[in-house]
Amino acid sequence: MREVSRDRRPRRIPGPDLTDAGVTRSLNQLRESLLEPNKRIAEGFEAVSVTMRDGTHLRGIAKNHDNYSIQLLDSAGKLHLVARADTGKIEISERSLMPDDFARRLTAEETRDVLAFLSRQAVRQREKK
Ligand code: HEM
Repeated sequence: MREVSRDRRPRRIPGPDLTDAGVTRSLNQLRESLLEPNKRIAEGFEAVSVTMRDGTHLRGIAKNHDNYSIQLLDSAGKLHLVARADTGKIEISERSLMPDDFARRLTAEETRDVLAFLSRQAVRQREKK
């Protein structure tokens, strides 16, 4: 049998893997992520724009950042490790890359269906209490 990835989104779309969303997120968290994505941005998914000292620019998502370096994944899927000492300006966006208009685009019923679907996504079994 052929191994098939459960994550069928094209690599270029930078959203988190939701195959386990029902186990790792509460329904309220899922609702907030879907309807108000700018409120809280999932770790490792902040949009970042870096201007290097030599004037070149890099854009992507910040996979990791600390006082010394920043790991930036660009839209081609390339990971850049950038030393802070080589950078001029680093801007981390407060807005999510996730579209923020689902509250307007989805009907109440569609929202309920999407959340019901997401809350059932579980690769791992729920731990027995
Ligand atoms: C109906 C369609 C969609 C659903 C149900 C959905 C659902 C979600 C959920 C539940 C999260 C939060 C995940 C977490 O807490 O780790 C999330 C985050 C994210 N999604 Fe989506 N998404 C959708 C469409 C999209 C699209 C079209 C894009 C990109 C063009 C996108 C990009 C992102 C990004 C970048 C994040 C991480 C940033 C953040 O937490 O706000 N999503 N999405």
